[in-house]
Amino acid sequence: MQIVVDLTRCQGYAQCVFLAPEVFELHGEEALLYNPAVPDDQLDRVRQAAAACPVQAILLGEE
Ligand code: F3S
Repeated sequence: MQIVVDLTRCQGYAQCVFLAPEVFELHGEEALLYNPAVPDDQLDRVRQAAAACPVQAILLGEE
């Protein structure tokens, strides 16, 4: 699964980092790094992260 984070929306709420720390990493308050090609064993966590993001910045590309 591919993901895109809309960094113009992301406000550094860090729910994604709590829920899927192997995919998302926050540097400072608003510099979010992430792995756009999600490993299979992280799919559920990334779906939870996308649902939990308060500004819906995480876009999932389901295959
Ligand atoms: Fe940003 Fe949403 Fe994560 S605001 S830090 S993508 S929970």
